[in-house]
Amino acid sequence: MTITKKYFGKTAMEYDAKRRHSRTWLTETSALEDFYRTAAQSGPIRTVLDIPCGTGRWIPFFQERNIDYTGVDVSKDMIAVAARSVRESDARNVRILEHDCFQYLPARQDEFDLVVSTRFLGWWHTDTAMSLIESLCAASRKFVIIHLRVHDNRFQVAFRRLVKWPKFVVRYASAVFGSWKEGRLSFRHNVLDVESHPRQLVEDHIQALGWTILERVVTKRLVYANVEIWLMQKDEPAC
Ligand SMILES: C[S@@+](CC[C@H](N)C(=O)[O-])C[C@H]1O[C@@H](n2cnc3c(N)ncnc32)[C@H](O)[C@@H]1O
Repeated sequence: MTITKKYFGKTAMEYDAKRRHSRTWLTETSALEDFYRTAAQSGPIRTVLDIPCGTGRWIPFFQERNIDYTGVDVSKDMIAVAARSVRESDARNVRILEHDCFQYLPARQDEFDLVVSTRFLGWWHTDTAMSLIESLCAASRKFVIIHLRVHDNRFQVAFRRLVKWPKFVVRYASAVFGSWKEGRLSFRHNVLDVESHPRQLVEDHIQALGWTILERVVTKRLVYANVEIWLMQKDEPAC
């Protein structure tokens, strides 16, 4: 099953309860709050895009600060949970849209002060993750927060493949079959949990886009990769 089809029904209903007390969830929460504070120091953050927004974990934080919040997610069931976390009194500041990010993002250009994407880039092949990062940056005027799994060397990749491949054989096979049947995305772009992304490649890509990684927090340290959350800022145009 691909990530785009995974978060429906029971998975959506149980999503928060299964995660919200975990250490990584709490680390991500405090990182986002710190990143927001850093970003806000250089001027007010008025508009935020959260993509995919899932069950709306960031809605209360941004709503409390009176920030215009747009959440986008492909799953109507995740969105239904998200809608419940919207405070009624100022609900007009919140828009939650059922959309595929691959259709929604390409049309956005410099639209938001801050774009947030958590627990998503790690699900895609590096090529797709890189083009998603590009679209996230294009959608933002100032700041982007991304969450991803990165490795530093090939040994980590080899180790991960050695350890994880037997476990994922069935998933890989069904993802290949699924993508072939759908004819939408290729195997490389559709498969679950392929691997982490090479740190250097991602960093170079971000720099080439004209963005700087301002802050990083490691949310999980694994033998074969780190899970990290980064605050990125758009570079000032050279005079
Ligand atoms: C692991 S959850 C992360 C949700 C949230 N960002 C968080 O940190 O809890 C992944 C989310 O991606 C959404 N998703 C998967 N494929 C998508 C796509 N193509 N476009 C938009 N959302 C997608 C799923 O519906 C799910 O809500």
